[in-house]
Amino acid sequence: MTKISVSEALARRKSIREYTQEGVPAGLVLDVLEIASNAPSGGNLQPWKVHALSGEVKSALLEKTIEQAMNNPAGVDPDIPIYPSGLADPWRSRRADCGEVMYAALGIGREDKVARMRQGAKNLSFFDAPVGLIFTLDRSFCEAQIIDLGLYVQSVMLVADEKGLATCPQAVWSMWAGVVREVLGLAHSEMVMVGMAMGYANPESAVNQLKQPRIAVEDFATLHGF
Ligand SMILES: Cc1cc2nc3c(=O)[nH]c(=O)nc-3n(C[C@H](O)[C@H](O)[C@H](O)COP(=O)(O)O)c2cc1C
Repeated sequence: MTKISVSEALARRKSIREYTQEGVPAGLVLDVLEIASNAPSGGNLQPWKVHALSGEVKSALLEKTIEQAMNNPAGVDPDIPIYPSGLADPWRSRRADCGEVMYAALGIGREDKVARMRQGAKNLSFFDAPVGLIFTLDRSFCEAQIIDLGLYVQSVMLVADEKGLATCPQAVWSMWAGVVREVLGLAHSEMVMVGMAMGYANPESAVNQLKQPRIAVEDFATLHGF
């Protein structure tokens, strides 16, 4: 694999929502998770925990979650909300645009609620990726440790990319924290913060072609005293 700069790696990484069925060996998963642990954390707490799921365990989580989703569309024992209630603009519009860009790539129209729901439900199978990751934090932590986890999660995605693996971060798993804990046998003290699909991208798939836009640096950065 040709070497690329950090800037190029950042620009190249994108969320992948269709995978080939090629498996990812446990050793490679552990390599990615280990290298990513060079991520910094406040006080070097290294507060992250990761559960890597494959095979029957991943299928069991899908089955249990779908079973529960019938009667609990808002999730089971969710740990953190995915968005604040009453998300204001400009973020509300960005969120809506993000969905529209994806549905456009898939050729799913504005009115096709069933197709949109079906696409959303693919989250629960980790988009059929061979590996699903669940990232947890101890319930005793405060907000600062969530920053550490975010740095770790991005590091996992970049190292995975370097190894030829594709990923999609998934906030949706926090909604199903109760099911995740039951299937994996986790204590209530482990908060389910975010999940991630990991595997080899299907290069042909339409949904994998999309590149979500970014706002201009002037719209979020302010220079002081230059
Ligand atoms: C913390 C976090 C949670 C996310 N949760 C989901 C999710 O549940 N489902 C999904 O399809 N994409 C999810 N995404 C992917 C975002 O939609 C995606 O990162 C964003 O649109 C930018 O696109 P890109 O990752 O391709 O650059 C999540 C991303 C992050 C960082």
